[in-house]
Amino acid sequence: MCQVHYSLNMAGRRILISGVNRGIGMALKERFLEGGDEVAGIVRTGFHEGGMSGDRKSGCVVLRGDVRDFASCESAAGELGRIWGSIDLLIHNAGVYPEMRESRFIETKRPDFELAMETNFFGAVNLTRAFMGLLEKSACPRIIFLGSGAGSVSSKEDSRSYCYGPSKAAVHMFARTLSYELLPPRWIISVISPGWVRTDMGGQNAMLSLEEVIEPLAQTMLKLEPAQHGQFLNRYGKTGEYAW
Ligand SMILES: NC(=O)c1ccc[n+]([C@@H]2O[C@H](COP(=O)([O-])OP(=O)(O)OC[C@H]3O[C@@H](n4cnc5c(N)ncnc54)[C@H](OP(=O)(O)O)[C@@H]3O)[C@@H](O)[C@H]2O)c1
Repeated sequence: MCQVHYSLNMAGRRILISGVNRGIGMALKERFLEGGDEVAGIVRTGFHEGGMSGDRKSGCVVLRGDVRDFASCESAAGELGRIWGSIDLLIHNAGVYPEMRESRFIETKRPDFELAMETNFFGAVNLTRAFMGLLEKSACPRIIFLGSGAGSVSSKEDSRSYCYGPSKAAVHMFARTLSYELLPPRWIISVISPGWVRTDMGGQNAMLSLEEVIEPLAQTMLKLEPAQHGQFLNRYGKTGEYAW
């Protein structure tokens, strides 16, 4: 039976994050490791150079994988199944913003639409499917999708993000749909926006540093409650800042 305060009390949660070699994923990985949790990360470049899948680098189990490729996600899940046997928290972090930020529609190329959908949307679908068996083995599984205000249809009032925006809107809809199949109190599925953060994706003009964002974001991820299931939250775990 799921404990009401499971997330606060349980030691050594098993957390899988996609895209841990830079940006928000890397910072989350470090924060969770410092907090005593077990962390595994999916990486396709950097970080794992020379290593084998399943390697531990700085305490993190490194799994090779490209979220666009279901076979590589399945293989990563098989590897982690042999090492851990289950996961408690799956964080869909890997993402791309392929287009130029100010591109007009006519300048936006089809390969950029495809890359955004393949990575951000199908990547989340692939990873969820591949790791479902390991999540099922957790007493209280959680799935978190890194969402974005750029994927909000109802608050859209600019002509930017032709590729990224629709791909994140699709992620939001997938998460919300899944939240009506996998139910609390056992399951909790949420979309969380970190805010506009200075990473390779967010750029140098972004309002927030990684340091400002990671602690509230990590706390929210670890303390999710059933009331936050199926919701689009800000990094503090609140609804209202972001609309679907
Ligand atoms: N930064 C922001 O302001 C902001 C705002 C709202 C939401 N978000 C969301 O937060 C998440 C992380 O963003 P970020 O700013 O940290 O981005 P980032 O610095 O550009 O990092 C993206 C990460 O995703 C990985 N990745 C990309 N494609 C992949 C693939 N096919 N397979 C596996 N990994 C892949 C990258 O690995 P490689 O090094 O191999 O490319 C990298 O580790 C994204 O989902 C983004 O949409 C960010």
